[in-house]
Amino acid sequence: MNPELSPFRPGQPVPTEFFVGRIKEIQCVRSMAKASAQGRFKIGFISGERGIGKSSLAYFVRRLSDRECNTAGCHVFLGGVQALNEMVRKTFDRLLKESVDKPWHQQVSEFFGDHVRKVGLLGVSLELDLKERDLSILTRNFVPSLRNFLDKLKGQKDALFLVLDDINGLAASEEFANWLKSTVDEIATSDREMPLCLLVVGLEERRRELVEKQPSLGRVFELIDIAPWSDEEAAEFYQRAFQSAQAKIETAELNTLVQFTGGSPVLAHEIGDAVWRTAKNLEIDAREISQGIFNAAEVIGRKLLEPQIFSAIRSERYRSIFRKMADKPQMRFRRSELAARLTNEEGKVMDNFLRRMLNLGAIETDADVRGGYKFPNRLHAFYFSIVAKREKGEKLR
Ligand SMILES: Nc1ncnc2c1ncn2[C@@H]1O[C@H](COP(=O)(O)OP(=O)(O)O)[C@@H](O)[C@H]1O
Ligand SMILES: [Mg+2]
Repeated sequence: MNPELSPFRPGQPVPTEFFVGRIKEIQCVRSMAKASAQGRFKIGFISGERGIGKSSLAYFVRRLSDRECNTAGCHVFLGGVQALNEMVRKTFDRLLKESVDKPWHQQVSEFFGDHVRKVGLLGVSLELDLKERDLSILTRNFVPSLRNFLDKLKGQKDALFLVLDDINGLAASEEFANWLKSTVDEIATSDREMPLCLLVVGLEERRRELVEKQPSLGRVFELIDIAPWSDEEAAEFYQRAFQSAQAKIETAELNTLVQFTGGSPVLAHEIGDAVWRTAKNLEIDAREISQGIFNAAEVIGRKLLEPQIFSAIRSERYRSIFRKMADKPQMRFRRSELAARLTNEEGKVMDNFLRRMLNLGAIETDADVRGGYKFPNRLHAFYFSIVAKREKGEKLR
């Protein structure tokens, strides 16, 4: 069917009406926002694997709290940012941009003074023009600067809801860990109120990395860990999306979709979209569902995988091992279990294969199990299991 009409949006923030589940997590962040609107500083870490819905949750609660708690929301995407100064620049730049069209824009413009530059065609958008020296000062004086910013908003907004999203590049740096720690300490030891709700978003490994560098951070974060959807939630998502487009799908087919989704929202959008494109009309049948799932794997492979991984899993030498490694839709496996299923010939090159896959980031060692491996996320697990099925000429069910 026409891709333009697809109710699925892979890779984009989900519209509120398709947002499914996360009730506990929403409540938790929402009460943090409420406390901050009463002057209390709150800091949380939203963790979970890639595509599980961390950014979407932050986005959803931010909208909610802007309405309910009169916060000024600001969502900063820091993917690829590795230096603290750059993070601070992006944060203040985002604060400026978020204020455009809002009643408090005047105050924000005054706050930034002649650092605001009009850019773009006809000067329609604004940008913060900060020199390295200004940035270093802002970074060192982050807390007082934010206080001044909040003072400016007084009477208009009760608190700042600040999301530092995708801190994966920063988490490895000592500088960031120290900065975060001293920011938290500075606020905690001050006797003034700090109406700030700060949410740091990243992979769980990154949170651990941060806490290793600054163990006391482990105690200050409220943890919001995003788990995969339950089967009921995944089913609810598909039902709502298909219904909104008047498409029909039988329960057995819905179950197949849920089974392959493995609780991953990003996969649900990819699979849903691929099924939508494959289907001829609004009565979606079993064959179209299967074909859609195979097509989704193709799309994910193209978006996700390095060309070297493709060639490794297709090479004559490794192909048969790959099929045995990936033929179950699970996230983990043991070296010994895999070895037991290989022929002598395959066994000889297994360790080379595993090393190659590790180096390429297609698998990771599983810290919890000796001789254990796992796929870095559900997207990899899905892709590999579908390709293994296709290679073996199997049907989906
Ligand atoms: N609760 C949800 N309901 C519906 N769709 C969701 C939900 N959470 C995430 N998604 C969708 O899944 C995809 C990945 O979500 P995202 O928030 O970007 O994940 P993350 O930040 O953890 O990598 C997006 O297309 C998003 O629209
Ligand atoms: Mg994200």
